[in-house]
Amino acid sequence: LDTFPQPGEQFHPLVPSRDANLTSKKLPRSFMWGVSSSAYQIEGAAAADGKGPSIWDLLSHRPPGFVQDNSTGDVVAEHYYLYKQDIRRLKLLGIPAFSPSISWPRIFPFGTGAVNEAAVAHYDDVIQELLFRGITPVLTLFHWDTPLALFNEYGAWSSPRIVDDFFNYAKFVIMRYDKYVPIWFTINEPQYCNWQYSTYPDDGTYWPKYGNWTDDKVGKARRRFLCGHHTLLAHAKVAKWYKEEFKGKGRITFKNSGNYYEARDVNLPNDVLSAKRSVDFSIGWFGGPWTDGDYPPSLKTTLGDILPTFTPSEKALIKGSCDFYAIDAYTAYTAYGSDNDIQCTNDTFNAAWPECAPSSQMGGNQFPLGPSSDPGASWLRSTPAGLRKYLKFITKELFPTVPDIVVSEFGFAEPFESSLTKMEDILWDLRRADYYQGFLDAILQSILYDNVNVTGAWAWSIYDNFEWNSGLSTRFGLQYVNYTDLSRTPKASMFQLKSWFREHAQ
Ligand code: NOJ
Repeated sequence: LDTFPQPGEQFHPLVPSRDANLTSKKLPRSFMWGVSSSAYQIEGAAAADGKGPSIWDLLSHRPPGFVQDNSTGDVVAEHYYLYKQDIRRLKLLGIPAFSPSISWPRIFPFGTGAVNEAAVAHYDDVIQELLFRGITPVLTLFHWDTPLALFNEYGAWSSPRIVDDFFNYAKFVIMRYDKYVPIWFTINEPQYCNWQYSTYPDDGTYWPKYGNWTDDKVGKARRRFLCGHHTLLAHAKVAKWYKEEFKGKGRITFKNSGNYYEARDVNLPNDVLSAKRSVDFSIGWFGGPWTDGDYPPSLKTTLGDILPTFTPSEKALIKGSCDFYAIDAYTAYTAYGSDNDIQCTNDTFNAAWPECAPSSQMGGNQFPLGPSSDPGASWLRSTPAGLRKYLKFITKELFPTVPDIVVSEFGFAEPFESSLTKMEDILWDLRRADYYQGFLDAILQSILYDNVNVTGAWAWSIYDNFEWNSGLSTRFGLQYVNYTDLSRTPKASMFQLKSWFREHAQ
């Protein structure tokens, strides 16, 4: 490790000049930070030790082209086998905490029923190894790898039956590891419902048998919002139980996907409306129910009976179910209204699609824009100023009751990294280093100048991994993974991250 750039080195003029007032300013002592990842994206060992298939084992194998480079999660970095060296490497790099996810279909190969003891023994060992190395485990219970059996059985998240199955799984894992885990994320980005239930070909060949689903737009939209509904209920049931059972021992929330949307021109009502709807459909869809007990009014009016309703007792269950707000915040958008946008509002079925409803445009001229990300993550522009505005907006305007906020994911995919051939080019990931410095500065500024209570930050990702539909070619890693020999090597951004915290953490 000593041969790599040392913490504190100035990498390149690309790294922007910083707010000089931040020099040696400190984060609060209790601020938690680390690196994150998820089971399907790094573990590999897709069928090892009795693991059941997840929906992603199916999706990544068919149809060709669903994953852009036709890669799968079958092997990836084989974290399942190489976790000891991964954890040791984190220790050497000075990373204090690790936030992976547990694989539901490993623990319950059929989603429910008998526990797979081999998988439990595996995770016991992972946790033990983390503790042995002095690294805090922060666990996500569900990061999109739904047990396939539950899809076949009842359509998984589109059915209320998922609530109890998830509860049983979550309860099992929490009871086993609660002593060691200070923070639980029940669900990673419930917005996954957007594609899980809507983006598939209409020819009926795509999913396993799933009941009598229709393939028209309304059917898809209904499933999409039912999925969101049951995801919220599943989270809330677990959170309520956890809080009663382990009073004050740890904290629980879900990771809300969310990017900041700002009106391009605050004097144009259409732009303001567009930004507002974008916020409602992306952040408010899940943030609203836990802060206010219900979906935002604009979702109700736009979606009509496509949006399920909560009973009074469900509302009470969900409201306040999170101990703090967690956002996976990668970028920020500028939204504007257009004729097309108005048309969307009048078309209920189209309006069920957030991308139609807000008519949001990336970038514009609202934010000083940092570098663009890989084409496989074309939605991502580095926008530190957007993050600062977002943190303030969430905690001061949108959800003023949230006690504190954590940036549960942020990260950057260096463009075309996969096509680079020289190690020195790969490891010299200056745009990513720039991104991390900008985003971390924005977090510190929010705490110091905007009085926002940010209590943690989790960098995505420990190393390169399977980026869902973009496959292995879109790399988000702070360490490079050579997919031929599975070696891992820290990139410059890893040292940038570490050196930033060396200066600012207490
Ligand atoms: C958020 C998701 O939780 C994670 O799985 C994904 O890899 C990153 N965004 C980057 O797109």
